[in-house]
Amino acid sequence: MTVLDGLFEIQRKIDPSLSFRCSCRVGMCGSCAMVVNYEPRLACQTRVEKLKSAVINVAPLHHYPVMKDLVVDMAPFFDQWKKGRPSLHPAIKGNKKLAIVPPDSEFGKHAAHKRDCITCGACYSACSIPGSNPDYLGPAAINKSLLRLLDPRDSLVADRLQAVNSETGVWRCHAQFNCVAACPKSIPLTDSIMYLKRNLARPGKFNDKLSDPNTAH
Ligand code: SF4
Ligand code: FES
Repeated sequence: MTVLDGLFEIQRKIDPSLSFRCSCRVGMCGSCAMVVNYEPRLACQTRVEKLKSAVINVAPLHHYPVMKDLVVDMAPFFDQWKKGRPSLHPAIKGNKKLAIVPPDSEFGKHAAHKRDCITCGACYSACSIPGSNPDYLGPAAINKSLLRLLDPRDSLVADRLQAVNSETGVWRCHAQFNCVAACPKSIPLTDSIMYLKRNLARPGKFNDKLSDPNTAH
């Protein structure tokens, strides 16, 4: 039995008004993220047996307005997500050529471990910074922005650099690693933030790809 199964059982047998979100039930959609025994987790991926506790405490994610019971308004997460400019802005519009990303390229190496974000918002809940600074981009938005900055197919460099290289971007992170511990996809979020901190000091680092014909797809 998972925590999500338990919530359905309570809804069926004790309180039909109990509200919570879920969709895929296999750890893919991210909608069932909540705080279980004081840590943000996916309810559908958390087995009751593994928690080894007689009483299981469930609560809505931190840093989000509560709409009802375990349902939160995800707007704070997606407001920041949008600031990191997550969509692809192709360097060549209408290009039909298949983009090949060599796995040993810089982008290929980062993407292999960092591309599986399901926008569950658990990392944002686990991070202590949004509590004192709601304008902080947050780990998921920064990680996504880094992937786009490294992506040779993408051309929107200046706007993304402006978002991440700011007081509310990577420089606000205190490297507490809470986001990494919470991420159900094991994305090394702090690695992305530290990588950006190091490389933002290198002039031209992310703009170089715009003038390199070998990276334009
Ligand atoms: Fe969820 Fe991980 Fe994506 Fe954060 S980075 S939103 S914890 S999947
Ligand atoms: Fe989709 Fe849990 S219901 S991740």
